[in-house]
Amino acid sequence: MKKLVLGLTLLCFCGCSHKTNEALDVDKALNYCAMQVERTLQELKGDSGIDYTLMPRSIMDSLTTWNCKKVVKEEWTSGFWPGILWYDYEYTQNHAIKREAEKFTSSLAFLSKIPAYDHDLGFLIFCSYGNGYRLTKNKDYKKIILDTADSLSTLYNPKVGTILSWPREVVNKQWPHNTIMDNMINLEMMFWASKNGGDKRLYDIAVSHANKTMKCQFRPDYTSYHVAVYDTLTGNLIKGVTHQGYADNSMWARGQAWAIYGYTMCYRETRDVRYLDFVQKVTDVYLNDLPADYIPYWDFSAPGIPNAPRDASAAAIVASALFELSTFVEGNKKMKYRNAAVKMITSLNSSIYQCRESKPAFLMHSTGHWPNGSEIDASIIYADYYYLEALLRYKRLLRGMNILG
Ligand code: GLY
Repeated sequence: MKKLVLGLTLLCFCGCSHKTNEALDVDKALNYCAMQVERTLQELKGDSGIDYTLMPRSIMDSLTTWNCKKVVKEEWTSGFWPGILWYDYEYTQNHAIKREAEKFTSSLAFLSKIPAYDHDLGFLIFCSYGNGYRLTKNKDYKKIILDTADSLSTLYNPKVGTILSWPREVVNKQWPHNTIMDNMINLEMMFWASKNGGDKRLYDIAVSHANKTMKCQFRPDYTSYHVAVYDTLTGNLIKGVTHQGYADNSMWARGQAWAIYGYTMCYRETRDVRYLDFVQKVTDVYLNDLPADYIPYWDFSAPGIPNAPRDASAAAIVASALFELSTFVEGNKKMKYRNAAVKMITSLNSSIYQCRESKPAFLMHSTGHWPNGSEIDASIIYADYYYLEALLRYKRLLRGMNILG
């Protein structure tokens, strides 16, 4: 009965199906995600109901159930599952999913009331409360986002001009003022806050961070360093290194993906054509060296290529970014980026990358932290989040709607 109701809900909402001559059925893919969300919710229901402070994080290749993580300030992935629920609600219009989204989201409120633990606040709060506010205009959500953006701004060092990503004593001994490429994503919350009643200084911080990162965290060929280490007192770059990539000088796939997503977003928020020009160069070097199915190896210099693990999460992040980037450029470039994004999600939609019956996540074959030996060739929650986001962006693009909803 439950399945029938879900099926009918989807049928009613979807109206016309977006089968395209690009051989990609976006509604079929979105319906698949909706089914997997229902499966995950079933799995999370213990005898005493759902613990809303436990968030699905990953499923190792050999396993079939979610490894869940408690919501604590140190856990950076907790915003993705609430974000998935908000996206799923947006698509299905299923109010039971909305209620689950609200409950999981509320577990993160404490982050707006404590000192910033690190830069990940944007991932945590903007994927959850950000999407929740976009869809509900709940005033309490807005306050939580604004307070969290203020909290994130306390990690900004004006001498360097960037946000300190990891303010941890043990890290800072070796890497005093460190800024990681992932940090680009957290700027979106700063831009948003500055335009929605928050401090205008947040805009300037985001711009400064993006500019300094553009200047210091890329090699001459536009590949990125995962980590830029700056002198805290002079603000000068000391060195570029890696944390999750293969080598200091290699292109870590997800790091480059964060850069592509981040500078596309910076162009949207500022309309500064320097970002638009830059992000195309950062994108082109990534696209030039992909395997035939457009899903990258976890690092472009990974040992063992072509048998090295892939990173479906990087592909999902880039696909989502390229759908947006394709709306900012014209002619051949427009088609190049849009076609590349379609190719990425077409691969992700295949039985090679989708979990289907085998487990309740959407995707397999992501790599979390290869140097640490963790989450290699796994299903990871942020891959699912950006995959669903990419599908929704593509659907809006096909309908001629604003790509961001
Ligand atoms: N932000 C950490 C990662 O991309 O794995």
